[in-house]
Amino acid sequence: TECPIEYHAIIDSTNSELMRRLQTKQKLSSGHVLVAEMQQAGRGRRGRAWQSPFGANLYYSYYWQFDAGMQAAMGLSIAVGLAVYDALHSLYGIAVELKWPNDIYLNQQKLAGILVELEGQVEGPCHLVIGIGLNICMPESASKHIDQAWTDLQAHLGQIDKNQLVVQLTQSLSARLAQYKETGLSDMVAQWNLLNAFKGEVVTLSTGQRQWRGICEGIDMQGGLLLRQDGELKAFYGGEISLRKG
Ligand code: ATP
Ligand code: BTN
Repeated sequence: TECPIEYHAIIDSTNSELMRRLQTKQKLSSGHVLVAEMQQAGRGRRGRAWQSPFGANLYYSYYWQFDAGMQAAMGLSIAVGLAVYDALHSLYGIAVELKWPNDIYLNQQKLAGILVELEGQVEGPCHLVIGIGLNICMPESASKHIDQAWTDLQAHLGQIDKNQLVVQLTQSLSARLAQYKETGLSDMVAQWNLLNAFKGEVVTLSTGQRQWRGICEGIDMQGGLLLRQDGELKAFYGGEISLRKG
């Protein structure tokens, strides 16, 4: 299938641009991809900044219309994380690890982040903008603004071909989204759990209100995180949650 890949040199945020087009009812077809060389206002979760210096890294957004509604879109970060794994594994033979709900780690350092934004009703069609920021070659000047351990592909692989990565990522994403549409997370949970960066570790989960400490047991069939506390399993859902080791 033919889908456009739209390139911009500079943009505020590839996610913001697609969200604006949705809000102003501009036509987009599923699979429309937008890539920029630089973002002036790259966004992470909860209003945090995503460092997006010129030329080096990948700033990528993918539009997808999903007919099953918002409720079903909740597990989507899981499918997207697996798509990033698939793309990097098939191109370079590396095995990244996944941190719930939406981070990609390589050697315990953050390589990429996923930001899924949606527009729509609880029932009925739902418009999704799937943003992926993936570090390829991070300049020194930007890296000092990142307040956690991070890495980029070049540190592990040397020079890489960004266009090839964009094409593979788009294919992997389309395949995982098609799978999600057909069978939801049912064939993805076990695979995700094998790639869980915090598998069996003591973690602290923070919602705005309080913190929970327990052993990370992976995800359930809805994509919620399972914490074991005093032998009891508790599941957590929703995006505004943060997870830390220890
Ligand atoms: P959480 O704190 O909720 O567990 P998180 O640490 O991944 O998740 P997010 O809001 O998802 O936080 O992502 C933003 C964070 O990612 C920033 O606070 C910064 O630490 C880090 N970050 C920002 N830009 C980059 C980048 N280009 N590469 C790697 N990490 C980055
Ligand atoms: C996170 O870990 O917080 C998610 C980061 C997502 C960054 C990507 S870069 C492309 C897209 N545009 C944005 O402004 N954010 C996402």
